[in-house]
Amino acid sequence: MKVVSIVGARPQFIKAAAVSRELRKRHREVSVHTGQHYDYEMSDIFFEGLDIPRPDVNLGVGSGSHGTQTAAMLKGIEQVLLDERPDYLLIYGDTNSTLAGALAASKLSVPVAHVEAGLRSFNRSMPEEVNRLIADHLSELLLCPSDTAVRNLAAEGVTRNVHLVGDVMLDVLNWAKQRLSETPRILDQLGLAKQRYVLATVHRSENTDNLSRLAQILTAFNLLDEPVIFPVHPRTQKAITGTGLTVESHVRLIDPVGYIDMMALARAARMILTDSGGLQKEAYWLGVPCVTMRNETEWVETVEAGWNTLAGSDSERIVEAVRSFTPNGSHPTLYGDGNASVNCVNLLG
Ligand code: UD1
Ligand code: UDP
Repeated sequence: MKVVSIVGARPQFIKAAAVSRELRKRHREVSVHTGQHYDYEMSDIFFEGLDIPRPDVNLGVGSGSHGTQTAAMLKGIEQVLLDERPDYLLIYGDTNSTLAGALAASKLSVPVAHVEAGLRSFNRSMPEEVNRLIADHLSELLLCPSDTAVRNLAAEGVTRNVHLVGDVMLDVLNWAKQRLSETPRILDQLGLAKQRYVLATVHRSENTDNLSRLAQILTAFNLLDEPVIFPVHPRTQKAITGTGLTVESHVRLIDPVGYIDMMALARAARMILTDSGGLQKEAYWLGVPCVTMRNETEWVETVEAGWNTLAGSDSERIVEAVRSFTPNGSHPTLYGDGNASVNCVNLLG
């Protein structure tokens, strides 16, 4: 069987690391990188660090408005599908690359398999929510990470070929754990002691495109009394530079880091502050409390389990959460057993 898979953004390279490894044992994969992310620290670093085969095609689409970017991807992916005539198109998550893949394939009657199907924030002002809704409704095979995702799809009338497979990011984390040394170099390089800092990431459009929300978040970081290690997404870097916001010296803005370094920083952090989807789950799996700087989350189980709390973007709420949020003792298994990629590939056939 031939599968064309679409990646383009940082979390998709990470998810594909696990699935491609499994897929290539049984099927021919043609991997397409849309070029949505292109800086070394946002793209190549993951192919190197995670031993992922280089993409067969790079569409080199780059940045742009949603319409411009998605349209360029749609055109490029359509041509690849016409050339390759695959049995399946595989898409991940909820980015514009996901949406373009789903649209291009469904118009050519190529069945779509969606990894991370069924996630919902119920907030349609998020570009990702729109992408997910459309991708799910165009998909032939829906590969869900949680019961909640399966239920979300059922509530929209989608019940055919819906499967609970677990989360492929857990497979990647398990793979990476074997490579995480006891004393990771990144901690030494940054002069950090375990449990003596918090790790932060911010990149959601609701937080970066809104000056007052971004200012509130940076104010919260400035008010904390422990080091804040903040690998800055290029979108956020542009927003910070463009608005002239400043941070105190304990807030350490660093370039985005590779996956293994990120997991080393996450594992040793006292707490994680983020608006990332992937990092909320990683915090949970690593047993690190998480403060999510959003008003809602798709990963509700981490909140219900008592390890993640929603603080929105208000500086006082964030500071209060960082100072006082403590998980309850229990830590149930969430999002599968680390075999999601095998489950996905089994279902593809
Ligand atoms: C995208 C996804 C988001 C995902 C995130 C992962 C969409 C709509 N959003 O958001 O769901 O959580 O990726 O990180 O698909 N930029 C660079 N260099 C790069 C990439 C981006 O400078 O290599 C800058 C550009 O100014 C660009 C901006 O970041 O306009 C935003 O990039 P884009 O890919 O459009 O969205 P993300 O915020 O990265
Ligand atoms: N990540 C990384 N380096 C960084 C920041 C994040 O490797 O500097 C990883 C993070 O641990 C997670 C993934 O990137 O595995 C999440 O990507 P992101 O937050 O960009 O997207 P989201 O998950 O919100 O879609």
